[in-house]
Amino acid sequence: MTKKKQISIIVAVAEDYGIGKDNKLLWHISNDLKRFKLLTSGHTVVMGKNTYFSLPIRPLPNRKNILITDICNEVILGCEMAYSIDEAVEKMDDDSENFVMGGASIYRQFFPLADKLYVTRVHAKFDADTFFPAIDEEEWTLIENSETFTDEKCGLNYEFCTFIKK
Ligand SMILES: NC(=O)c1ccc[n+]([C@@H]2O[C@H](COP(=O)([O-])OP(=O)(O)OC[C@H]3O[C@@H](n4cnc5c(N)ncnc54)[C@H](OP(=O)(O)O)[C@@H]3O)[C@@H](O)[C@H]2O)c1
Repeated sequence: MTKKKQISIIVAVAEDYGIGKDNKLLWHISNDLKRFKLLTSGHTVVMGKNTYFSLPIRPLPNRKNILITDICNEVILGCEMAYSIDEAVEKMDDDSENFVMGGASIYRQFFPLADKLYVTRVHAKFDADTFFPAIDEEEWTLIENSETFTDEKCGLNYEFCTFIKK
């Protein structure tokens, strides 16, 4: 029997679950990016093509980057290509946590497959064009909730929440 892969989602959401606009993030919260790096380094990260091209540095260093595209046989140097969700799962690590890092279409498709959610909740609303699915606390147990922090530069309040599937 094949071992079940550990699939975690990592995301930063606004109060209305907005996550992006014009293929960019809605905010710059330096501590959130540091936490993202800390959690994902040494692991596999999985992303859609729009998110990949929104990254300032790509592929992400010190991580196996799995890039999902419909464009059959497209190859991007430094990435493991996957042409479907199933193929991405197949290419994930068997023995350590795999991080699904967006964007909206990829989150939507992996949401039913994920065991854990690392959510940065930003206490504000923006004019977003991409959204994360609503987290139903009937289906997810909150296991960690940080204090509320304030970003020194942008002034936004945010907290880190971790959920596991019930
Ligand atoms: N706040 C956060 O934490 C966070 C994190 C990441 C991203 N974001 C934001 O999310 C937005 C991007 O999200 P998005 O939904 O537009 O794009 P995306 O999910 O990053 O990428 C979409 C692309 O992925 C490929 N794809 C998706 N599902 C597929 C499937 N089942 N099989 C094969 N290929 C598939 C397709 O690529 P092809 O067109 O090549 O076929 C599709 O066009 C940006 O604004 C970004 O900044 C926010």
